[in-house]
Amino acid sequence: MKTAVVYFSWSGNTRFAAETIAKKAGADIFEIKAETPYSSDFGKCCDEAKPECQGKLLRPIKSIEGLDLAKYDAVFVGTPNWWGTMAPPVRTWVTQSKDALKGKTVCLFQTHGGGGMQRVGKDFAEVIGDAAKVLPPKAFSGSAIKSSVAALEAFVSERTAK
Ligand SMILES: Cc1cc2nc3c(=O)[nH]c(=O)nc-3n(C[C@H](O)[C@H](O)[C@H](O)COP(=O)(O)O)c2cc1C
Repeated sequence: MKTAVVYFSWSGNTRFAAETIAKKAGADIFEIKAETPYSSDFGKCCDEAKPECQGKLLRPIKSIEGLDLAKYDAVFVGTPNWWGTMAPPVRTWVTQSKDALKGKTVCLFQTHGGGGMQRVGKDFAEVIGDAAKVLPPKAFSGSAIKSSVAALEAFVSERTAK
């Protein structure tokens, strides 16, 4: 079983989760980047992201160097919870990759600031549709992510168990 981890992260929490998951799963890891980065100021980033998240807009992303989904059986997809849904660059990537994910096992993880899963898993499943086998998503506290290594590893074990 060959696994990839594909993620977007603004302030590093989802990156830490993605790296921990990739290490445990023996997976290749790839980062989604917005074509135009969001402001590094939290308030400005929130203002910029709000209409995109609420309007389910597809913010343009850079193409991910070296990622050929055909090589993988399973893909973990990571996003921060932004305005209750996935970050727009993740929505863009999933939308663009939907056909390439056909027949694969796909599992979402997210980090949040206290809201938990909100609509993230549901919105993700809606974009993917029936193309892939979608496993139950999991939410992790962003502020506690560095002390959540065991929980992240357990998540990988549970989702990859035969
Ligand atoms: C634009 C923006 C919107 C956010 N919206 C939410 C939200 O609706 N619910 C929530 O629990 N956390 C929200 N957060 C907090 C992030 O989900 C949390 O800090 C996450 O761990 C950040 O991941 P990152 O470090 O990978 O960017 C938001 C953060 C940002 C920057």
